[in-house]
Amino acid sequence: MNVSIIGTGHVGLVTGACLAERGHRVLCVDSDEKKIRFLRAGRMPIYEPGLEALVRRVRKAGRLHFGGTNADAVAFGKVVFICVPTPPTPSGGADLSYVEGVSRDIARALEDYRLVVEKSTVPVRTGEHVRRVLAKYARKGAAFDVASNPEFLREGAAIEDTLHPDRIVLGVETRRAEMILRELYRPFRAPILVTDLKSAELIKHASNSFLALKISYINAIAEICERAGASVTEVARGMGLDRRIGPEFLRAGLGYGGSCFPKDVAAFEAISRELGYHFRLLREVRRINAEARDRFVRKVEEELWIVRGKTIAALGLSFKPDTDDVRESPAVDVVRRLAAKGARLRAYDPRAGEPARELLGGGVTICGSALEACTGADCALLLTEWEEFRRLDWARIRRVMAHPTVLDGRNALDPVRMRELGFTYRSVGRP
Ligand code: UDX
Repeated sequence: MNVSIIGTGHVGLVTGACLAERGHRVLCVDSDEKKIRFLRAGRMPIYEPGLEALVRRVRKAGRLHFGGTNADAVAFGKVVFICVPTPPTPSGGADLSYVEGVSRDIARALEDYRLVVEKSTVPVRTGEHVRRVLAKYARKGAAFDVASNPEFLREGAAIEDTLHPDRIVLGVETRRAEMILRELYRPFRAPILVTDLKSAELIKHASNSFLALKISYINAIAEICERAGASVTEVARGMGLDRRIGPEFLRAGLGYGGSCFPKDVAAFEAISRELGYHFRLLREVRRINAEARDRFVRKVEEELWIVRGKTIAALGLSFKPDTDDVRESPAVDVVRRLAAKGARLRAYDPRAGEPARELLGGGVTICGSALEACTGADCALLLTEWEEFRRLDWARIRRVMAHPTVLDGRNALDPVRMRELGFTYRSVGRP
């Protein structure tokens, strides 16, 4: 089937490449000409394991093309996915101006029937607005349907999550739209949930906010464990064995960041308020998440007493391992706070050093290795749990540090082993 993708960010690019992988013919367009040139040159605007090879393969097979206008996208694809950004507004709600603008372009280009599909994460009832815009700007009699097909991809695992999803959610209003999307996703052989448009939109916000809730919940448990002398990793293990709870997303630490959870939780709270429900639980999820960083910075101060003038090594800057994405990164937040207190930061990240550089400004030196960052450091902070940091030669690291103190913000290291190596070692919610 011919499919068009409008917006080649993480969602659009990965979705387009995976649909092409599964045999469809895909056209990806983007208003950012530079990005399209980049893609046409075979370069990836985002780091995602396996994406470059996948895009190269499906382009060679002639099933994935880049470039053109939104009108070209409507002319090419029977299904047109809207994958444009929905950034937060100052009040926390979702800015839908890109969605509205693209919907107008689609409307004006409508000739034959088209199925317009929201893939970007949008607040409930956005589909209604899209339908109204299409009806308002399309020529009389133009035939179309609107559907919601939210993405559930995690950065660093986006291809896996797209090719092998736990479920495909189809929010449709007509049988015709349902049949088209069932045909589109038949090659994916994944469980398909067909529901109405509004429920599909809500599934996304409700799922992401619930995952964020799980993380804040275990971070609250970590606070209790610290006071009680218990271990949050042991508590999480015991909880996770209950198959109604499950072990995932119960890792205590600096909390969540990234371009999704913070935005989605705030947007969900905002749309709920608009609908007349004050989602206080989500406000508490955000408060606990912010507190996790405060607690960690206070831990550093407890260890160093005076932060000003001290040399601190920061291991990890990305918001999570296996990505170069530093958006809303808890690691960057902690580094910035300590630099603001006058510490001399020496930061290293396997992939996010450059992306973080402009975010961090003066008081932070970006180093080329963990060893370099730790050289002469009064303490080392593990802020993102890259596998590389677990495998470091910590005995060697100890010899180059000014003082062997390690504060582990992601419970990535083994306390017994670190103390055997002679480190003063502290982590989150563990003795
Ligand atoms: C998330 C959702 O998982 C995905 O389904 C949705 O489509 C987009 O948002 P992503 O933000 O890419 O994906 O990363 P994810 O792996 O979910 O981690 C989000 C944040 O939570 C990271 O900062 C991570 O460090 C943190 N996290 C995750 C924890 O602090 N503890 C955990 O146990 C798990």
